[in-house]
Parts: sequence; structure tokens; C-alpha cells
Amino acid sequence: MRIVSDVDHVGIAVRDLDAAVEHYRRTLGIEPGHRETLEVQGVEAVFLDVGRSAIELMAPLRPDSPVGRFLERRGEGFHHVAYRVDDLAAALARLDREGVRLVDRSPREGSRGTRIAFVHPSSFDGVLVELVEVPR
Ligand code: CO
Repeated sequence: MRIVSDVDHVGIAVRDLDAAVEHYRRTLGIEPGHRETLEVQGVEAVFLDVGRSAIELMAPLRPDSPVGRFLERRGEGFHHVAYRVDDLAAALARLDREGVRLVDRSPREGSRGTRIAFVHPSSFDGVLVELVEVPR
């Protein structure tokens, strides 16, 4: 049984959020949507809607944040893929049963009123996976 429905968004780490937003607008014609600062995670993000999916451009608020350390280590670029799920708690339980390494063992608050959980990249060929449950 498939537990994911869509690619909700693709996360891309950038150093200059405003410059990146303007670049996507000018080159691809994508207007910026929801903008959010997540103080606890030390990140500011802008969502650019593309059909049923989105691009999440994310920049660190400080160098010692997770995204700040990511930029230091890997530079700008692809950060994570986020899949939409109907039931996040059930999805996490199934992945746990399958031996998948979870970053978040239970759902936490995401942006835009969603609930999210991250799955460790070591379980998905080096790709950080985010699961997103969208409120109905
Ligand atoms: Co994300």
C-alpha cells in the first residue's frame, strides 16, 4: 500500500533568500508565496507554488543552525524532498517497523499549518526525506 500521495515540496538551501526568490521569479516566472521564519530551527523559508507541489527556498538565520551547517558543509543546493501523507503517525509507525531510521519519532508542527516529520538520509540513499500531513 502506498502511503505517500504527492511530492509536497522540494527544499533548496540558499545563502541569500531574497536574491533566490527574485531569481526564480525572473527566470522561471514563479511568484513567491508563503514566507515564514522558524526561529527555533534558525531558518527562514519561502514557498514557491508549482502546480500541486512547491519549491521551498530556505536560508539560515545564523551559521550554527542546521541549514547554516548544511551550507557550510555542502554549499547551496538540494536539501530535502517532502512527500505528502494522509496519516503521518501511521506512516511513521510503518517506517519504524520497516527499520527506517527516523529523525522525528512523532509528528511536529511544520509551516502552513502542517504536521511534519523528517526521516534520516541514511535510509534513503543520502536524501533527507520530510513527510507532510496537510490539514483537511
Ligand atoms: Co520542507
